[in-house]
Amino acid sequence: MCGIVGYTGGRQAAPIILDGLGKLEYRGYDSAGIAVSGARGQIDIVKAKGKLKVLDTLTEGGKRLDGLCGIGHTRWATHGEPSENNAHPHCNTEKTIVAVHNGIIENYSPLKEKLVRRGYTFYSDTDTEVATKLVDYYYKKHGDPLKALSEFALHARGSYALAVLFKDYAGEIFAIRKDSPMVVGYTDGGAYLASDVPAILKYTRNIYYTDNQEIVRLSQDGAVFYNLDGEQIEKEYTVISWNAEAAEKGGWEHFMLKEIHEQPEVVSNTLNYYIQDGRADLSELNLSDEYLRGIDSIIITGCGSAYHVGVVAQYIIEDLARIPVRVEIASEFRYRNPVLTGRELVVVISQSGETADSLAALRGVKEHGVKTLALVNVLGSSIAREADSVFYTKAGPEISVATTKAYSAQLVSMYLLALKIAEARGAIDGVYYNKLTSELSALPGKMKEVLENKSAVQKFASEIMDRGDVFFIGRGIDYAVSIESSLKLKEISYIHSEAYAAGELKHGTISLIEEGTLVFGILTQKALAEKTVSNLVETQSRGAYTAVLASESVQCLPKDCKAVFRIPDCDEHFSASLAVITMQLFAYYISVLRGNDVDKPRNLAKSVTVE
Ligand code: F6R
Repeated sequence: MCGIVGYTGGRQAAPIILDGLGKLEYRGYDSAGIAVSGARGQIDIVKAKGKLKVLDTLTEGGKRLDGLCGIGHTRWATHGEPSENNAHPHCNTEKTIVAVHNGIIENYSPLKEKLVRRGYTFYSDTDTEVATKLVDYYYKKHGDPLKALSEFALHARGSYALAVLFKDYAGEIFAIRKDSPMVVGYTDGGAYLASDVPAILKYTRNIYYTDNQEIVRLSQDGAVFYNLDGEQIEKEYTVISWNAEAAEKGGWEHFMLKEIHEQPEVVSNTLNYYIQDGRADLSELNLSDEYLRGIDSIIITGCGSAYHVGVVAQYIIEDLARIPVRVEIASEFRYRNPVLTGRELVVVISQSGETADSLAALRGVKEHGVKTLALVNVLGSSIAREADSVFYTKAGPEISVATTKAYSAQLVSMYLLALKIAEARGAIDGVYYNKLTSELSALPGKMKEVLENKSAVQKFASEIMDRGDVFFIGRGIDYAVSIESSLKLKEISYIHSEAYAAGELKHGTISLIEEGTLVFGILTQKALAEKTVSNLVETQSRGAYTAVLASESVQCLPKDCKAVFRIPDCDEHFSASLAVITMQLFAYYISVLRGNDVDKPRNLAKSVTVE
């Protein structure tokens, strides 16, 4: 998605804005632009198609643009092709109002027609130019930036983080947001805004999370917040505990590789934080034992990898806590008319806490009076703020578009939730509970062992990197790992891949297996391994080239496997945490070998704040 950055203060704005935009590159973009209030009162705009580097070179790292106040943008095209013309910032005809925007104005077409009837003309295909000219229209009507933004909010439908420079208010930035992330930071003598914390963390750790339909006015003196009635509101800031280095590559070739290697630490941090005296202490979540005993079922929802965490959790919670669990893709769930009794717990999983479909699913179930729990990584994000309770994962900033460490932190958090529910409902005895918590404590060490095996994964990746199709199969939790493995591979290697519940293959999909098709079997669930092996053998008979990923003590393997990867034994409920690492490495190495942009795969964005 797009990224926005703004700065006003005592320093030259453009280099700070470009530096911040660089930290948002992971969100994906195809063009970039910057606007600065210049020394003579004019607003200078520079835009470029392509990488931020182009803009950086054009402006000599921002040095060519003087001025102490400005806004910048990296664009991920939604309305109109990637081009300099469509790139932000956009402006009114007189260039006295200039704006950058993240999100989508859904009713931009009728708004544009209305503006055309009032004499406005348009130079781009973007909804942002419409937004800018709408603000211009209301500014001309009221002569007040706050009123102009309030009226904009009344008339614009959709999502936006909109930051605006008004020539009449030199040295100030006015911004408003709805359903698109925007954080504000301050230090002595400067104020910042951005789509995400890493963009401004180098300059300040004091962060305000703006709420929906709040207006913020930034000046050298700090940030002042207003509601849509123009009344000033008090807000508390959060001090960010992680430092800027956590969001830097720190010598690793890619963020993805760094984040894969951070997983033992992230899992350990999450466990250390939430396990107290040998028990899953989830008191922060405000889910009393009495409440957990009273619920009838659990619904887990999310998108992409977050949904895949839900699929793993479904097996574990049902098995340990003996309560029905449903997993729903958020983009589907939000448009269903689900039968809800109010006795469900709905868990929304989201790394960013901003995914539009997950947020909409959350809001939908809240309307039914159902209690919601958000499992979120980004502090103060929309989903975290709107859910009844929040379970924060301790993954730190995840920069690579393809999730790895956040997925692992979500998994281990769901294990803890499963233990908590099982204990509250009296579904497991103390001995088994203790065994499971000590198994959990052993996970980070075993994850390190899996990472040590990376050169074998790299070698196999080099052997199969040119294959056209890859299938991942497994049963139970191994099926859940298969869907994540397949997604990882396709999103960064661009190789077509499918994940199949192993027993389902012969109901149609096996017809796709031909000489040389790679079929990867996942075998960590001993009771199911033999069955999956039979399915692998069936594919071998049709010419498949097979590989397996198996726990150490799984003995039954198909003959003639081209590669066998082992992971340490652990309690089988938790094997996804180990198996996924091999699969992340597999996808990673193939992507590198194919020369792809690993951290920023084509067509993808880190935070999907539009439908
Ligand atoms: C895949 C990936 C995506 C996200 C999905 C949800 O590697 O990262 O599938 O898991 O877009 O994002 P969040 O968790 O931010 O809601």
